[in-house]
Amino acid sequence: MTTNLTELLNQYRKDSRCLAGFNINDIYDLHAVTLAANELDLPFMAMTYPPVAALNTTYLCRKMIDGFQNIAKNKIYLHLDHSTSVDLCKRAIDDGYDSVMIDGSHFDLATNIAMTREVVNYARSAGVTVEAEIGKIMGRGVEAKFERDFLASVSDVVAICEEANPDIVAVGIGTAHGFTSTQPKIHFDRLREIAASISHPLVLHGGTGIPDEDIQKAITLGISKINIGTIVHSTYMNCVHSEISKDIDSAYPPVIMKNVISKVQGVVKDRLLAINPHLAS
Ligand code: 13P
Repeated sequence: MTTNLTELLNQYRKDSRCLAGFNINDIYDLHAVTLAANELDLPFMAMTYPPVAALNTTYLCRKMIDGFQNIAKNKIYLHLDHSTSVDLCKRAIDDGYDSVMIDGSHFDLATNIAMTREVVNYARSAGVTVEAEIGKIMGRGVEAKFERDFLASVSDVVAICEEANPDIVAVGIGTAHGFTSTQPKIHFDRLREIAASISHPLVLHGGTGIPDEDIQKAITLGISKINIGTIVHSTYMNCVHSEISKDIDSAYPPVIMKNVISKVQGVVKDRLLAINPHLAS
């Protein structure tokens, strides 16, 4: 199978398969995700949120993936997640990211389309995949205020595809970022309508809180990439916290991080199996 990301995701859309994207922050969680993906012989997407790219630089994030590619059995795709900045997308493209998300979903449609078009034009010659977003992914903080109008409208999805031509599209269909007090209600009918209107691979955000059967149903309806973040960093932080609480004075990072890697690896493997149930033995 091809390793070109856009081609791979188009093939996945046709075959009702799905690539897992994990939000990573450093070499320890990246190490854990790589080991889990190796166990199941799967490629994956390593996604950096803008603060991670800002802290480590897009240049070093690229080098970090290049290093881990040497121990990965399959391709690791480096992705910039939820960038609201066109300039940051351009910097990531210049530094060799495989994929960038320009998130104009908080703006009006015309602005979202204009931002997406600018990134698509910049990315094309570099062969970088561009993800756009229509509708809103709910969650905490500012996202908690999206009580209405968060669902992606079919006509908006068609408009951004026709006018800005992104490679893949994230669609707001009721999922939420992070742990939520109530289970998100996923609007499968809307997903069905969107998938019938465009052939682009569709992306589902908020992977932490989605039950396994809903993940699998969404894949049959056109979801070709699922983003998973909170479960990774919360497992990481909880493990660090419990380890250093035992005896802070003798806490030695390589010993602690070895435990963190193993805990995160287990959680990531579990999510990979939810996305690929046929691999469960
Ligand atoms: P969760 O944090 O809910 O897993 O969502 C991650 C995400 O959608 C990143 O784009």
